[in-house]
Amino acid sequence: MRYSSSSVLAALAAAPLLVSAAPLRARAATAADALVFQFANVLEQLETEFYAQGLAKFQDSDFTAAGFSSSLLATQTLTTIQQDEATHLTVIQQTLKDNGATPLVCNFTFDSALTDVPTLAATARVVEYVGVAAYLGGATIIQTPQFLDAAASILTVEARHQTVLNILSGTGSAIPSAFDIPLTPQEVLSIAGGFVAGPCDLGLTATNPLAVTNTGAISSGTLLTFKATNVTGTDGLFCNMMTGGAPFSINLALDQCIVPPGINGPVAIWITSDDQPLVNNVVDRATTQQVAGPAIIFIDSQPEVLGQMVRGSGTGSIVSTTTQTISPDQAASIIAGASATPASGNGQAAPAPASTPLPADFVGPSPDGKVTVNGLTMVPRPAASASASASDGSAPSSATDSSAPSATSADPSAPSASS
Ligand SMILES: *[C@@H]1O[C@H](CO)[C@@H](O)[C@H](O)[C@H]1NC(C)=O
Ligand SMILES: *[C@@H]1O[C@H](CO)[C@@H](O)[C@H](O)[C@H]1NC(C)=O
Repeated sequence: MRYSSSSVLAALAAAPLLVSAAPLRARAATAADALVFQFANVLEQLETEFYAQGLAKFQDSDFTAAGFSSSLLATQTLTTIQQDEATHLTVIQQTLKDNGATPLVCNFTFDSALTDVPTLAATARVVEYVGVAAYLGGATIIQTPQFLDAAASILTVEARHQTVLNILSGTGSAIPSAFDIPLTPQEVLSIAGGFVAGPCDLGLTATNPLAVTNTGAISSGTLLTFKATNVTGTDGLFCNMMTGGAPFSINLALDQCIVPPGINGPVAIWITSDDQPLVNNVVDRATTQQVAGPAIIFIDSQPEVLGQMVRGSGTGSIVSTTTQTISPDQAASIIAGASATPASGNGQAAPAPASTPLPADFVGPSPDGKVTVNGLTMVPRPAASASASASDGSAPSSATDSSAPSATSADPSAPSASS
């Protein structure tokens, strides 16, 4: 992907960039600043259009049929998010125009992501995470502090969206990790590109798209399978699973890409050509060894009461694990992920180890031995705090808290939260 004209960047670099809705003085935008804003312009278009189409397509009955205890629970939230994204887009585009640049206008197709409400919700959850990851990665590129401030003021709101969508998933932790994962613009484009229809030339080359092809539940013990145009076998290839807060990805031979225990929440997955783990920051992360990815999946190993209250409430159905994935290639894996939610009783070979969430106070070495796992994140924690975790409110413990969702209460015959 290339700029059809370099005049956009040149014009932006030459003129002050002003975010009119933010308390900013005019500043001289560098070419790097301008690139981030043009990139944000495309992402916000994608988000705005996605929610607009989703809200237009589905009726209240579609939302209640999807298990929401009230259709308003979903539509109010999705409408608010759509309005936020539209506002972001307006401000970003005006900023570009104010500086003599033409905002890139792209078309999108969401057919595969708007097949039903569960797929809409699963896709939205990933789209917002990709938005967070994009602004996070963009933060390292922006050179002018005032623009960084403006972009960060959008980032925090994208993160709020993402949290609410974790709750609306019914199976996810609202705040699954103490840290998020930054992605480069090229990595973000790899994911978003699956929704782009027609030309949308940002002047960046996307990394090769990667789709997770598992159709059953993904959880601890699941062997992940993939599809990427650039990958035909597994020889000499490695999978890399990145979680928030982990210093490195977990690097495994591609034919043994098994989800380790202790993961809850979003995971970014790459295929690489060597066994060096990828670094969890976009400045130092190796690019030459990347063969495909990332793909974003959610591994929901610790369902929370909050999600249960909005989704599947009253059915008594506790979903212990699920997966929600997004991918390019017509977002095929979104459909796969949504249709696989949850594993129980759908005839798929559900991996047994998956159904037992780690206790909240689990502390131990990560599968790669690099960091200490606390059962929620890959963040090192002092050993002395282990006994305090039961009261820190970060997660229900199925062993000690009778009000918390428990894997043992799952009824395989109960209706799924996504049906
Ligand atoms: C977007 O779609 C509209 C309507 O179909 C079309 O006129 C326009 O050329 C498309 N633009 C791009 C960049 O694909
Ligand atoms: C595809 O991957 C191989 C390594 O497996 C690499 O040599 C090649 O350059 C890649 N091609 C593209 C287009 O990324």
